[in-house]
Amino acid sequence: MQHFWLRHEVKEGEGRSPLLPTHAAALIQKGHKVSVERSATRCVADALYEEAGAQLVETGSWVNAPKDAVILGLKELPESNDALVHNHIFFAHCFKGQGGSAELLNRFKSGGGTLWDLEFLTLDNGRRVAAFGRAAGIAGMAVGLLVWAYKQLDPLSVSPCPPLVERFQNYDELATYVKQFLDKAKEKSGKLPTVIVIGALGRCGGGSVDFAEKVGITPTKWDLDETKKGGPFPEILQHDIFVNCIYLMTKIPPFVTSEGIAGPGRVLSVIADVSCDTSNPNNPIPVYNQTTTFLKPTLRATQGDNPLDVIAIDHLPSLVPAESSKEFDDALIEHLLAYPNTPVWTRAKDLFHQKTKEVLG
Ligand SMILES: NC(=O)c1ccc[n+]([C@@H]2O[C@H](COP(=O)([O-])OP(=O)(O)OC[C@H]3O[C@@H](n4cnc5c(N)ncnc54)[C@H](O)[C@@H]3O)[C@@H](O)[C@H]2O)c1
Repeated sequence: MQHFWLRHEVKEGEGRSPLLPTHAAALIQKGHKVSVERSATRCVADALYEEAGAQLVETGSWVNAPKDAVILGLKELPESNDALVHNHIFFAHCFKGQGGSAELLNRFKSGGGTLWDLEFLTLDNGRRVAAFGRAAGIAGMAVGLLVWAYKQLDPLSVSPCPPLVERFQNYDELATYVKQFLDKAKEKSGKLPTVIVIGALGRCGGGSVDFAEKVGITPTKWDLDETKKGGPFPEILQHDIFVNCIYLMTKIPPFVTSEGIAGPGRVLSVIADVSCDTSNPNNPIPVYNQTTTFLKPTLRATQGDNPLDVIAIDHLPSLVPAESSKEFDDALIEHLLAYPNTPVWTRAKDLFHQKTKEVLG
């Protein structure tokens, strides 16, 4: 019997959940215990978990959960230096040298806790067990198109995209919303944007391409074949919007550079960096160094009369929290039911120990 403890997400704008009430009920039916922290921001009402048989507990109380509880979440833990004593399942973003990696791994090491990173739960064939990629690609394309449209409608605005406070029930509703702005922008500027997606054959890239097509745009699609000659790529600068969806594994030549974007003749007006390797030392878009949020979706990479705006939101799927959570939870549940003694969990645990050793010695 396991005790799963679904924590409230502290990240601003995060509304997704890795476990929905129907599958909380499935865990309980198998004899597991499920505690769910009350959360005013989760896309599912607390009461639905209670109806499913879960025990509701106070927001943020996982720190005092019984030591054998398995703390389930999505994004980062609240900021703290405290030792981590529990078993945790979440996207920790600390195995690729990202900022703060050593500190987080050190918290696990000193508390004796274990991390199963959701990004590294893989099947025997190497495929990810569950991913938000498709939803991220859809949302990244949607925000990229919105920002481009806002820029046509108000070219002098220093902050082209207002806070995106609205959340959408599903991808169709999001497409209808974006299409309205594109239509208005087209009326004013006389055109729809040209778009290039890199990493187009992946999960995020596929979502991006599909969403663009849904709103009437056929993007240029690049993947490994097209980038093998090595960047920077002048072709990117000749599209209105660049949506980056690659899975970065090693150092590669940059796709765009500060010198390139400062040069004459640039068409590029918006970069939607879905991959969001902002704090990765090998980020192939080294023209910005901060993430953005739904409350302030863009940062300006170049000023002047042809500004370039970058979107680097690292929790894009929460624009459509219910549909993206359902896709993720549907894929994860069979593995949660089998936790922790299958190769999926063992591999991820081994990787955690290997990375901890590499980083901390
Ligand atoms: N911003 C967010 O909210 C968010 C959410 C989910 C995933 N992501 C990130 O998006 C990235 C992609 O995830 P995914 O699930 O789509 O991965 P994936 O493995 O399904 O797809 C990645 C694609 O990138 C291609 N690729 C890799 N290197 C390339 C290169 N140098 N040039 C051209 N193409 C290249 C691959 O061939 C593949 O088709 C990951 O870094 C992931 O962490 C971000």
